[in-house]
Amino acid sequence: MSVAPLQTLPIDQLRQRSSTKWRRYPDDVLPLFVAETDFAPAPAITAALHRAVELGDTGYTPPDAGIAAAYAGFAQRRFGWQVDPARVRTTCDVMMGVVEILRHVTEPGDRVIVTPPVYPPFYECIPEAGAAVERVPLLDTGTAWELDLLGIEAAFAAGARAILLCNPHNPTGTVHTRESLAALADIAAGFGAVVISDEIHAPLTAPTAPDGLGAAGARFTPFLDASPVAARVGYTVASASKAFNLAGLKCALMVTADDATSSVLRALPDEVEWRTGLFGAIAAVAAFSPESDEWLDAQLVALHENRALLADLLAEHVPAARYRIPDAGFLAWVDLSDLGWGDNPAVKILRDARVALHLGPLFGAEGAGHVRINFGCSPELLREAVERIGALAR
Ligand SMILES: Cc1ncc(COP(=O)(O)O)c(C=O)c1O
Repeated sequence: MSVAPLQTLPIDQLRQRSSTKWRRYPDDVLPLFVAETDFAPAPAITAALHRAVELGDTGYTPPDAGIAAAYAGFAQRRFGWQVDPARVRTTCDVMMGVVEILRHVTEPGDRVIVTPPVYPPFYECIPEAGAAVERVPLLDTGTAWELDLLGIEAAFAAGARAILLCNPHNPTGTVHTRESLAALADIAAGFGAVVISDEIHAPLTAPTAPDGLGAAGARFTPFLDASPVAARVGYTVASASKAFNLAGLKCALMVTADDATSSVLRALPDEVEWRTGLFGAIAAVAAFSPESDEWLDAQLVALHENRALLADLLAEHVPAARYRIPDAGFLAWVDLSDLGWGDNPAVKILRDARVALHLGPLFGAEGAGHVRINFGCSPELLREAVERIGALAR
């Protein structure tokens, strides 16, 4: 790949942003917590939104805003996955899509499996839909994390009705293999259970064997494309919001690949689709268009460099930290237990180093002693943050 890495905005411009990442803490804090990125936006998105602002194009999102067709093109180009736009519906964000699907595929009190450590809102969206959380932690093989298929099978056998999968996984950056996804689909099918796959981080899977970047890379498998059985038992919820930093614009897609699951989507109240933000729809169409591919490739290079830089910085300044380079995304799951800073080291790091990281224990009991670091920032910011943490560790 001969793409140059994408540049981030200068820090003085970032501090003018009004989003959570830049407003939650005072200016002496380096914000590496919430999952927003600091890159200059994709030009096709900026142009589309500028035009919408100039036109006062701020009304309701139309029935077919072009999101499904744009995503089908994107899925084909980026993942080699054929999506039928007629089997897609939209809503305001990924977590709302998950809640609305869960409401339709579970009964009140049904158990839904999550695989901790996992994105904290998973623990809230399941009760929001009237179901109950069942934990089957990821297996730590010593060099990687993977689904505990036997544990999941036991949970289904004991009555769990669905699993909320995170693929790629937040916070570990694990990209599940086609084999494990196909096996999961078979297990779920055997119990008449449902798989909901949150694929929000998929476009940020580290490219396979990027030239000169010295890593093997990973290959993302969309759950619905893992096997014919997966296409039957699965629902995917996706969005452009992580890969293109569009979370505030409120647009996500629910994707199916089978008549029965498509009819569940069609049965969702129209109100679910009305909640799609128009700016989110406009931005998503621009993000998923071929015009934004080059920007996304450049971001993948920047993230690839940062995920390796973080390993070097931790080795130099916080050698007690344990970090596995993630296969996807811009989030690093770092075990700081050996520093003796307690179950929630991000608290001390914020107080004494003025670096805001996401709190490990929020991801589940497995997060004790851990922090999640957002490296979707400039190498300079990442360096300063780790140096500050390192100074505390000395
Ligand atoms: C795995 C995962 N799902 C969902 C979300 C949130 O998506 P949304 O804002 O579209 O609900 C995030 C945000 O970081 C995430 O990491």
